[in-house]
Amino acid sequence: MKVGCVKEIKNNEFRVGMTPDNVKSYVNAGHDVYIEKGAGEGSGFLDAEYEAAGAKMIDTAKEVWDTVEMMIKVKEPLPEEYPLFHEGLILYTYLHLAADKPQTDALLNSKVKGVAYETLIERNGSIPLLAPMSQIAGRLSIQEGAKYLEKRFGGEGVLLAGVPGTPKANIVILGGGSVGTNACKIAVGMGANVTIMDINLQRLAYLDDIFGARIQTLVSNDANIEKAVKEADLVIGCVLIPGKSAPKLFKKKYLKEMKPGAVFVDVAVDQGGCGETTKVTYHDDPIFIEDGVVHYCVGNMPGAVPRTSTIALTNATLSYGLQIAGKGLEQACKDNEVIYSAINTYDGKLTCKNVADSFDCYEYTDVRTVC
Ligand SMILES: NC(=O)c1ccc[n+]([C@@H]2O[C@H](COP(=O)([O-])OP(=O)(O)OC[C@H]3O[C@@H](n4cnc5c(N)ncnc54)[C@H](O)[C@@H]3O)[C@@H](O)[C@H]2O)c1
Repeated sequence: MKVGCVKEIKNNEFRVGMTPDNVKSYVNAGHDVYIEKGAGEGSGFLDAEYEAAGAKMIDTAKEVWDTVEMMIKVKEPLPEEYPLFHEGLILYTYLHLAADKPQTDALLNSKVKGVAYETLIERNGSIPLLAPMSQIAGRLSIQEGAKYLEKRFGGEGVLLAGVPGTPKANIVILGGGSVGTNACKIAVGMGANVTIMDINLQRLAYLDDIFGARIQTLVSNDANIEKAVKEADLVIGCVLIPGKSAPKLFKKKYLKEMKPGAVFVDVAVDQGGCGETTKVTYHDDPIFIEDGVVHYCVGNMPGAVPRTSTIALTNATLSYGLQIAGKGLEQACKDNEVIYSAINTYDGKLTCKNVADSFDCYEYTDVRTVC
């Protein structure tokens, strides 16, 4: 199959869909790989490395789009890329269609086979192509929180670990899933006092087992949250109710009760945020201060560490990508049925139930009846 990858054009997006090592794997499997010149630069991968791995380096994105049968990306295509779609193209990337009607229309109208990373669900219920980004966002949330606690950014001027003779910072983590667990790991490692809350008692039991006496677990309810955030130096919001907007657990009224210069990192911002005062921010201007509390609400946190993010993402996407390229999408699905769950659009039909339910203008088609 002709497989390719272009440079991401979203603002401040430096990740890339394929590394030179990925290229080697596709080439060894007998595929032709086309890479836009400069596509990997933001993640520190040079054209010469792609070339040495067996890729054909192409001058423009348009030529790559026109040539390939399977496009491997990171972010959803932007409107300037829609005219480059062609019928039958396999587009393997994050799509996030539920919030994006223009893109959904473009994929349907051009009969692209849209294979979305974020809806590929394994048999055990895990979402393997989303997990690495949650791991990164969770770990990064503490790093960013620590930075914005510094005085020059409007923070309290507190060091997470303290030093002998000074108090350690209090970190409150709302949501003990993938992001929360990874945040917890770094927070514990930095020596802070950590409280983690969830509504799922089994999850709390798991966290209690792995972190033991180094953390406090609490059931998530308004009373516990209000009490905990009053003492907090850093609050991490990372709750998720799949398919729904995040519940607004972190209320505006808490801000005035908190320490001036405390920091709130709302990782759940991509699902609308779990703070009443959350507003989306971007890497080039990531924080704002409301009622004395520093808010960090960047929707694509892994973009801050593109080298790690690219390697982590492509570690996860490679095996499914090789199955699709090797057998064609249809046979790959028949041999590994979990791949069906990733197909959002196919031959002009919308084949993802959750996306169809998010709009009232599309008819849902069961992918197994058409693919
Ligand atoms: N901003 C970014 O760059 C970025 C990156 C990765 C993930 N995310 C987002 O982070 C959020 C969390 O992702 P995840 O992978 O950890 O999800 P997850 O499903 O692994 O964990 C979510 C947890 O929230 C808990 N929860 C639900 N309602 C709650 C409540 N009322 N109080 C406390 N806990 C509650 C669930 O029980 C679950 O344990 C998602 O919105 C995800 O999209 C953002």
